[in-house]
Amino acid sequence: MTIDSIKTVAVLGAGTMGNGIAHVFARAGYNVILRDVEDRFLQRGMDTIAKNLERELKKGKLTEAEKPTVLARLKPVTDMGAIAAADFAVEAVPEKLEIKRAVLTEADKLLRPEVILASNTSSISMTALAAMTKRPERFVGMHFMNPVPVMVLVEVIRALQTGDHAYSSTMELAKTLGKIPVAVNDAPGFVSNRVLMPLINEAAYAVMEGVATPEAVDAVMKLGMNHPMGPLELADFIGLDVCVDILKVLLEGLGDPKYRACPLLKKYVAAGWLGRKSNRGFYIYDK
Ligand SMILES: NC(=O)c1ccc[n+]([C@@H]2O[C@H](COP(=O)([O-])OP(=O)(O)OC[C@H]3O[C@@H](n4cnc5c(N)ncnc54)[C@H](O)[C@@H]3O)[C@@H](O)[C@H]2O)c1
Repeated sequence: MTIDSIKTVAVLGAGTMGNGIAHVFARAGYNVILRDVEDRFLQRGMDTIAKNLERELKKGKLTEAEKPTVLARLKPVTDMGAIAAADFAVEAVPEKLEIKRAVLTEADKLLRPEVILASNTSSISMTALAAMTKRPERFVGMHFMNPVPVMVLVEVIRALQTGDHAYSSTMELAKTLGKIPVAVNDAPGFVSNRVLMPLINEAAYAVMEGVATPEAVDAVMKLGMNHPMGPLELADFIGLDVCVDILKVLLEGLGDPKYRACPLLKKYVAAGWLGRKSNRGFYIYDK
């Protein structure tokens, strides 16, 4: 299947990442079948897309006339059977192996054999996910960053089984979305989380050991290293529970104790201080 023959894309999951992925495909001119398990999740996803398109309109990245055209390209569905019409599919369902397995095996049965199936997982082995399908050579990782409409990077991850054609097509497809794809091989945490999580973890240790306050740690990294966000601000944005889970994957997958999660991070998670989503993490947020 050539990249030019990709007209319709299925996005599985309309949550934080799924609605962003659907947004960027629709913006780039693709028809999008957006699938979630219940209408209320689809409604929430579509509302977010409409809100984010409005923001792009205000910033002059989109014209008034384009907005309804982009929205009309999106088809929200609960019926999984509808994805059979797709020429490419991206999975963005929750980061739980059993949910991924159920969704990927069902999608694998419904999609035409030549269609590439991609996963947006942050931490599960692409090689293991590819092996769950009957199209391992057409399975690939497409790791978008949050918020998807804003962030330019797509880490394109090659599972052990991914074929050259699926890999190069996915790299090209990401470019048609206005993204910059970066090629990475499958390994725990890929590059993004392999490098980011130890930074966040070390920042948490610095706070735990009383080296500096969260504000001071973040100020050093922003002002001294030119990071647009400090590591602890970023950790709150990602979710401290998500950070602890990813560190666990790195520790188990790579076996090096340097990846063990900082006790302070684990303590915050135990307290329900998960970051922005719970209004408290390293910082306190207004409701
Ligand atoms: N949130 C991030 O910053 C981020 C960044 C990069 C990658 N990811 C990855 O993206 C994936 C999705 O994460 P998220 O943050 O969007 O999660 P989320 O919980 O916001 O969204 C997941 C959505 O999938 C839906 N869903 C559940 N079962 C489904 C099924 N069988 N079919 C279709 N939809 C189903 C849920 O109802 C929900 O709307 C995960 O693999 C995660 O690791 C997340």
